[in-house]
Amino acid sequence: MKIVRTPQELKSLLREEQGNIGFVPTMGALHSGHRTLIGAARRENAIVVVSIFVNPTQFLEGEDLDKYPRREEADRKVCELSGVDYLFYPTAETMYGHDEVSLNAPNVRGYILEGTSRPGHFSGVLTVVMKLLNIVRPERAYFGKKDAQQLMLIQEMARQLFMDVTIVPCDTVRDEDGLALSSRNAYLSPAERAEALKIPLSLQKAAKMVGRGVSDPDEVQREMLAMLAPLEVDHVAIVDRAFNPVTRIVPGNTIILVEAISGTTRLLDNIWI
Ligand code: PAF
Repeated sequence: MKIVRTPQELKSLLREEQGNIGFVPTMGALHSGHRTLIGAARRENAIVVVSIFVNPTQFLEGEDLDKYPRREEADRKVCELSGVDYLFYPTAETMYGHDEVSLNAPNVRGYILEGTSRPGHFSGVLTVVMKLLNIVRPERAYFGKKDAQQLMLIQEMARQLFMDVTIVPCDTVRDEDGLALSSRNAYLSPAERAEALKIPLSLQKAAKMVGRGVSDPDEVQREMLAMLAPLEVDHVAIVDRAFNPVTRIVPGNTIILVEAISGTTRLLDNIWI
């Protein structure tokens, strides 16, 4: 595995390679969810590139940019053991300059749900993902369904900007207790983690209700909110796969999303129905 630290070096190395490139962009603190993305990239491509970059432009003022977990040594081992060919570790200075061009997330779907609690977050995500895709020029790029709104916006970006990349969605990976894996779970105290388990439980409950034939989103939402108390709930939303709100739950085209705060940690989870 080659570790590369500048966009220019990675670009020139990858231009020499033959065969399809699979790309997994990450912010590091790699867990089994990332390993699943890397595993899919490994199976489907000749060359696998992983990037680790804690992207400053997607953090709002006062968020956890400085304390976001950074584990270079452990992450390098995970990548090596997962068969990664290139680990890209850029610095903010090589990724960004002054007075930059940047992308704006769509005014509606980029500013609802997580985009309401973190206005501008998705513009930072789209800008960095565009930069990374332009550096790596992969055939396929892999993203987790846990960040469903991010995934949808990246798919929209690739489609609307006529980009030559296939965005591959990968299923959420959960700990044994049901909590969706996230690098931010490391912030949770045992008590906060126990409280956070209400999130996957509420989603399971929603799936059961839909399985019993309940199709009224308000009814499902009410049950979920009752289950989530006393967590601080940012939203429970029921949308179609394009993130339009639904008046009727249609299995096969619905995502139920929760964003809630346990202690000071913002947690996202969802279920695709
Ligand atoms: O999901 C993430 O880890 C980040 O938002 C991403 C896609 C790597 C962009 O910084």
